[in-house]
Amino acid sequence: MKRPSHLLTLFVRQSYCERPSSRVSRRSTLALDATGRVPPEHPPPPAPLVTNHHGGLRRFAADLPRVTEFVTLGEGDTPLLPLPRLAAELGLNQLSAKLESTNPTGSYKDRVAAMTMALARDRGYRGWIATSSGNAGMAMAAYGRRAGLPGFLCLVASAPQQKRLPLVPYGTGVAAVHDVGDGGSAAAGTRLMEAVRDAATRHQLFVAITAGSFNPDGMRGIDTIGYELAEQASDITHVYVPTGGGGLLTSVGRGLARRGIPAALIACQPSGCAPITRYLAGELDAPAIQRCDTSISALQLPHPPDGLLAADAVRASHGWGTDADDDAILTAQQRLATTEGVFVEPAAACAVAALVEDVDHGRVGPDHHPVVILTGAGWKDLGRYTTMADQIPVHAVDTVAAAVDTWAEHL
Ligand SMILES: Cc1ncc(COP(=O)(O)O)c(C=O)c1O
Repeated sequence: MKRPSHLLTLFVRQSYCERPSSRVSRRSTLALDATGRVPPEHPPPPAPLVTNHHGGLRRFAADLPRVTEFVTLGEGDTPLLPLPRLAAELGLNQLSAKLESTNPTGSYKDRVAAMTMALARDRGYRGWIATSSGNAGMAMAAYGRRAGLPGFLCLVASAPQQKRLPLVPYGTGVAAVHDVGDGGSAAAGTRLMEAVRDAATRHQLFVAITAGSFNPDGMRGIDTIGYELAEQASDITHVYVPTGGGGLLTSVGRGLARRGIPAALIACQPSGCAPITRYLAGELDAPAIQRCDTSISALQLPHPPDGLLAADAVRASHGWGTDADDDAILTAQQRLATTEGVFVEPAAACAVAALVEDVDHGRVGPDHHPVVILTGAGWKDLGRYTTMADQIPVHAVDTVAAAVDTWAEHL
């Protein structure tokens, strides 16, 4: 549904193949317009600014918090892409990916940002304030501007450059914050959230933190992932969700449950910061640890604000938690890119790494149809590729042919 122009192309090709003569005869009898093209027989009406199936949460309005007007940049209605090569490698008959990376700012956070800004505008706030490791920040910055609301962002200081740079054009207020993110402590995270809440009260700002325990109505925007999955593949058996604070998983689970889809939710975390999966495994009394030790940006929350909510959702769905170490996550990222052409950021690849782990341990197999939620685009976190990119050999025009020949020896 997401790509009407693509579908149209297919349809047109098909009808030309079936009836080639009609195409030729129509062309030969029609006058050309000033640009040399055949004018359409029935000129289409001007496209509306926003159509339902070009994204937007509006089509799910009946199942979302009430707002006077939705704010949209074309988010949602993301493709559910089959991954046949990876499935075959893993011995699965079916495997699909929900491409949240195709949202306007490159991550699923656009769904919560769209809902949040509609609510903030309706409720008369002067602006918004949020914490972010980068994805929520860019989404809130973009949707805030779309709604005409200024905002301030407390950004994890270690956020990849590719998550910091896009904040600049929006002119958002930004403070980079130490002691949260990689190596960050639970105590610092809690103090930051308190500071944000206090500032929000002082300045009449909407708390746009992407966690159910801070922004429950805004997070309902993410329920739409579950609604869409129910439309796209009602036979899914397992949903692999990259999990940091737990809000994403809680929302996806709520959306699936509202549509009666009985899929098991799998919380996927990096082993160096896995409070929710460890809690689910009975290793911890609460989903919280002291400190994070993972390089996977966006999944570095030692004290997940929605940890208990997420654990409850996992249990209610008869799912479980699976963690994977950073190397396994980065290997999964590369494998997805080379086997399927899908390049996502490491946090998203955590879902793939967890699936690989579960297949290896026989928890998922050929009778199942797992879906991985690919939450963010690969361009969001390119740091580990810069050295390799800098080493690309430089050639004069006359030596390029030899470089191609050397490469072709490995075909
Ligand atoms: C790309 C990506 N994947 C997954 C997550 C995890 O979402 P949550 O913190 O709600 O569990 C985030 C959160 O920032 C993210 O940016």
